[in-house]
Amino acid sequence: MSEPIRISRAAVKKARPKDKDLTFGTVFTDHMFVMDFQEEKGWYDPRIEPYGPLSLDPAAAVLHYAQAVFDGLKAFRGKDGRVRLFRPQKHIERMNNSARRMCIPPLDPETALRSLVELVGLEKEWVPSTVGTSLYVRPTIIANEAFLGVRPAHSYIYYVILSPVGAYYPEGMNPVKILVVDKYVRAVEGGVGAAKTAGNYAASLYAAEEAKHAGFTQVLWLDGRERKYLDEVGTMNIMLKIGDEVITPPLTGTILPGVTRDSALTLMREWGLRVAERQVSIDEVAQAAHRGTLKEVWGTGTAAVISPVGELAYKGERIVINEGKIGALTQKLYDAIVGIQYATAPDTHGWTVPV
Ligand code: COI
Repeated sequence: MSEPIRISRAAVKKARPKDKDLTFGTVFTDHMFVMDFQEEKGWYDPRIEPYGPLSLDPAAAVLHYAQAVFDGLKAFRGKDGRVRLFRPQKHIERMNNSARRMCIPPLDPETALRSLVELVGLEKEWVPSTVGTSLYVRPTIIANEAFLGVRPAHSYIYYVILSPVGAYYPEGMNPVKILVVDKYVRAVEGGVGAAKTAGNYAASLYAAEEAKHAGFTQVLWLDGRERKYLDEVGTMNIMLKIGDEVITPPLTGTILPGVTRDSALTLMREWGLRVAERQVSIDEVAQAAHRGTLKEVWGTGTAAVISPVGELAYKGERIVINEGKIGALTQKLYDAIVGIQYATAPDTHGWTVPV
């Protein structure tokens, strides 16, 4: 990017929470990155400013037609004290794919990477150091043109905010209970299920609330056509070990192409495991459980990292996995990914970017 990033610093700095008090997504740092888009100019005026409210016209397209995309990645403080972003280029690529699907102009990947590195660099002291904590980075693009006709907007805001976080689930690394839903669906082929777009999350809330009231942490979505094949969990991709095969649903356009999903698949293939990206029906999972071949189930996600699933409930039946305990492969994946993130293990894939 040729245009320099303007920096205006916050006059007053906020108090930073202690690592042990961190939850998910409630505290935000002192600064944010902002850049504008207008059709005639393209993306322009990259800047870092004090964190604060955006000014939006009540007719802004995003508020009416949800033309918005975001991504989520993390910066970690390694055991050596240095700060690193985990796979930022992969997250930028995904955000640009989400943007194209929502008719939002993509960012120049180099500019986007600079926005993350510069902002996290400025806010370095906000990156916590305890294993399990990190600085969550939320790049977002919204349509801000004041216009009520239904068409892609002509102006947008890209912004990045930062939040020091702990575990996403209150359970931490304890296995979560998940409700398999067949009453509602999240996505269908040809829809926007693979895009990280605001509406997908709004559409998930009703089922997630029902599940929560019934005592479950999340829902597991089945495919939208037959309501039979596993798609994904509310905020994670899903993986299973049946016998000696690791299975995860394929990227057919209805699920998010998770970055942690990709990292886990890469590692497991390197370890020589039999890994299949294929459809897996809930009946196959139930049958495997009855036969005793359902060994482990876990979710993968940036916020959730690697999250063991202890129980799946489907049509009134409870499928308890590995006696509700974390499995050996789930633990090994968690340790491997966390090792790279906190630089206690070598980053042989070039996944981390120093800040
Ligand atoms: C993430 O894992 O980064 C997510 O975006 C999931 C959720 C917090 C929306």
